[in-house]
Amino acid sequence: MFKPVMLALSLTVSASAFAAPSNEPIQPIQPAKVTNQAKVELGKQLFFDPRLSKSGFISCNSCHNLSMGGSDNLPSSIGHNWQQGPINSPTVLNSSLNLAQFWDGRAADLKEQAGGPIANPMEMGFTHTLAVDVLQSIPQYRESFKKVYGKNAIDIDQVTDAIAAFEETLVTPNSRFDQWLKGDKKALNKDELAGYQLFKDVGCTACHNGSAVGGNSFQKMGLVEPYATQNPAEGVAGLTGNDADRMKFKVPTLRNVELTYPYFHDGAYWNLEEAVDVMARLQLGRKLEQKQIAQITAFLKTLTGEQPSFALPILPPSTAKTPRPQPFN
Ligand code: HEC
Ligand code: HEC
Repeated sequence: MFKPVMLALSLTVSASAFAAPSNEPIQPIQPAKVTNQAKVELGKQLFFDPRLSKSGFISCNSCHNLSMGGSDNLPSSIGHNWQQGPINSPTVLNSSLNLAQFWDGRAADLKEQAGGPIANPMEMGFTHTLAVDVLQSIPQYRESFKKVYGKNAIDIDQVTDAIAAFEETLVTPNSRFDQWLKGDKKALNKDELAGYQLFKDVGCTACHNGSAVGGNSFQKMGLVEPYATQNPAEGVAGLTGNDADRMKFKVPTLRNVELTYPYFHDGAYWNLEEAVDVMARLQLGRKLEQKQIAQITAFLKTLTGEQPSFALPILPPSTAKTPRPQPFN
């Protein structure tokens, strides 16, 4: 007797759940679904633990500072021994939405990516074996890994898996733009809305679309007019050796772009308005008026979402067996 009622009810619920405007090129960010809280907590500790670096000083958070939009706000990062990094550090916020990781996409996913920086001599300057030795020497870490992975020994695969699980929670839902997408027409003001209309009309959405407003294709930087830069990075061509891939980079997400200056793979532009002007000219052959640039920029700032928020993880102390950090060489 209750069946028809239940059916009607569930139909109503699912219809409204999918009522988000599907005719827009940008979709709202979905909140993270945590299935294994213990794994996420472990990954969070590892993300903040500088003992995964040779110096004992550099953590993932050093270059992907979660207090600063998941980036370091530097043109290129500072690595082990104050080395200058080769390229701008992209945000880790919403990076789970990327089709691949790194500017050239050389890592397939977050788990594969996370192994890179630990052993990169220019970043954390360590080795996977030593990083695992450090963790293995700390009883609380041994316990946490055992609880999550059910094994007696820690390995690098578990380390990168836990970090990736934490990174998957670093999404930024509920931006003003997403509120607008979901039907709150008051969430944007007139200029912001005009900026979104321009963003679509001039063709930005050809490359910046989907829920991350980017992150889902590789495109040539300087499609219409070449990009002048001192940075030697060649993009995807660095991997394929293919001339057609020169200056092809993963289209960055524009979510939280207001927080992730300076812009472009060389970090050459500090001002979002200038970056918008460069994009319109180099990618679309359009010289926008100052007012249009200001409106697009106003729209871009509505893409700043709720930043991940949690208690700062407290890291278990080292022991007598923990390999000592080597901060000065
Ligand atoms: C010394 C600075 C530095 C440290 C430390 C560092 N990263 Fe990065 N990270 C970068 C830079 C620079 C890039 C871009 C490199 C490239 O694309 O060639 C990057 C790229 C990434 C990306 C890809 C994002 C995207 O949009 O493609 C992720 C995810 C990431 N790092 C996570 C981590 C994690 C997890 C750690 C700790 C294990 C870490 N990083 C440590 C500087 C750093
Ligand atoms: C043909 C594809 C394409 C089009 C069209 C395009 N972009 Fe981009 N956009 C990219 C790529 C690729 C990058 C990264 C380039 C680099 O760093 O060298 C980028 C980077 C950016 C950045 C810097 C993000 C960061 O974190 O560094 C902003 C801002 C941006 N685009 C805004 C726009 C706007 C606004 C428009 C329209 C006027 C637009 N883009 C049109 C491909 C495109």
